[in-house]
Amino acid sequence: MGPLAAGRLPPGMNAPGAPSLELQALLDAAADAIIIIDHRGAIQLFNHSAERLFGYTAKESLNRNVNILMTERDREQHEAYMERYLRTGVAHVIGIGREVQARRKDGSVFPAFLSVGRIAGSDPPRFVGFVHDATLRQQAMGAIQRERDRANRYLEAAQTILVALDLNHRVTLVNRKGCEVLGFEESALLGVDWFQTVVPEGQRTRAVVEFDALVEVAPRRPHHSEYAVITRSGERRLIAWRCVVLEDALGVATGILCSGDDVTDSRHAETDAREARERMMHVSRLATMGEMASGISHELNQPLAAIANYAQAAARLLAAPTPELADVTDALQQISAQALRAGEIIRRLRNLVRNRETHRELAHINEVVEELGPLSRADARASDVRIVSELGVQLPRVSVDRIQIQQVLLNLLRNAIDALDATPAGQREIVIRTERNPVGDILVTVADTGPGVPDQLLPRLFMPFATTKSNGTGLGLAISRTIVEAHQGRLDYQPNRPRGATFTLMLPAEQG
Ligand SMILES: Nc1ncnc2c1ncn2[C@@H]1O[C@H](COP(=O)(O)OP(=O)(O)O)[C@@H](O)[C@H]1O
Ligand SMILES: [Mg+2]
Repeated sequence: MGPLAAGRLPPGMNAPGAPSLELQALLDAAADAIIIIDHRGAIQLFNHSAERLFGYTAKESLNRNVNILMTERDREQHEAYMERYLRTGVAHVIGIGREVQARRKDGSVFPAFLSVGRIAGSDPPRFVGFVHDATLRQQAMGAIQRERDRANRYLEAAQTILVALDLNHRVTLVNRKGCEVLGFEESALLGVDWFQTVVPEGQRTRAVVEFDALVEVAPRRPHHSEYAVITRSGERRLIAWRCVVLEDALGVATGILCSGDDVTDSRHAETDAREARERMMHVSRLATMGEMASGISHELNQPLAAIANYAQAAARLLAAPTPELADVTDALQQISAQALRAGEIIRRLRNLVRNRETHRELAHINEVVEELGPLSRADARASDVRIVSELGVQLPRVSVDRIQIQQVLLNLLRNAIDALDATPAGQREIVIRTERNPVGDILVTVADTGPGVPDQLLPRLFMPFATTKSNGTGLGLAISRTIVEAHQGRLDYQPNRPRGATFTLMLPAEQG
């Protein structure tokens, strides 16, 4: 067998005679380098692509050992393989491709992908190898790996919990922060059922239902939810989650990625603050009630005295030889009416004093004002003050906590009654007005004809403990403003004309 041109089939590989044209074309067109060697490793065939890839011509490669195409390291391994194969018939490489370091004629080395097969029926055996340059592939893999490393570093550095779950709720990824919060090693979490493992039983069903719904519902938007996790030490942490569906290239959901922030501590702080605020309001309501006590006890005394009088009258009427039963009936009816009146005052008081949680509702402001009537009038009458209501008509409803707004109004009325102390009896008047401003907000004004707020107090008027009264707390206006601002409203002061004070409570109109 003489030297072969590139791709010329070696004798014996095909039927004797010229190699088939088809095979020749195949070899020439192949993108892979195709090399055939005999059992000693001598090159028998070297196609066009092999020439291009390795820099040898077919001619110069022929009958040379294939190890000229290998690096030092692979050379030894190759010989060991061949030796073993020939001795034992156990193939280690055949049929499986593998990555190798290949060497060009000029000595340069490149990563190559090699697959080897034995030529069936050849004896002694001959082998065919397919080789292609794996540089690009390796570069791409390297780039992917670097991307992955970078993504991993982001995951690790994140101050938020990151967890990915597959469709069966198994953890496929959890970052360092997640492990930290949960107190588990990453390996202890990967592959476990997330909901069964970390979500407390009481919240599990909801969390699972939300998860499954998120996967099913299209279009897919980030989903926010809150549920707790139980840490390894048994502690419960409340987490605010934001989840997105992970999809494959075809848009099919493959799982969910969730980021979570531990909101346990901030929630506690919020609750503490809310409770403190509610306690303070309660105390301040009690204080307002205390200020009103004399007026109210006077108001309660009236029906009680009337009841006593009517009862005595009824007894006298019944003691007569021929009792006038119609008069007795009349007295009893009066007793019952007065008792209802007293009961009503007590009921209102109880409502205001009760410790309670904030509760918003859509309400007519006039009703809120009128409900205060019995209490405020009781207080006012005791100080010879007249309260005049000017209630607007067809006012839109407002979203308020009734009791809180009533507390504000009572504070304003109480202050106005105090302010009228020096005004001669008979001229003591408070006007309470409800109306709508041009942009539709609700205004409630409480105006008196007292001395007005002294100028030097104005900058501190709404601050806690700003008081000019010997027995004052200076909390009334401060708390009132807090309440109103919690309603997105405003509480302001203007001097009244020609004299006195005007406090305006603005509540934003209900949208839509
Ligand atoms: N209608 C008013 N007229 C004049 N001064 C007022 C009026 N309302 C409040 N003030 C002044 O504002 C101060 C603070 O009121 P407030 O916060 O209710 O506390 P307190 O009533 O306990 O003093 C009062 O002490 C008073 O000087
Ligand atoms: Mg006050």
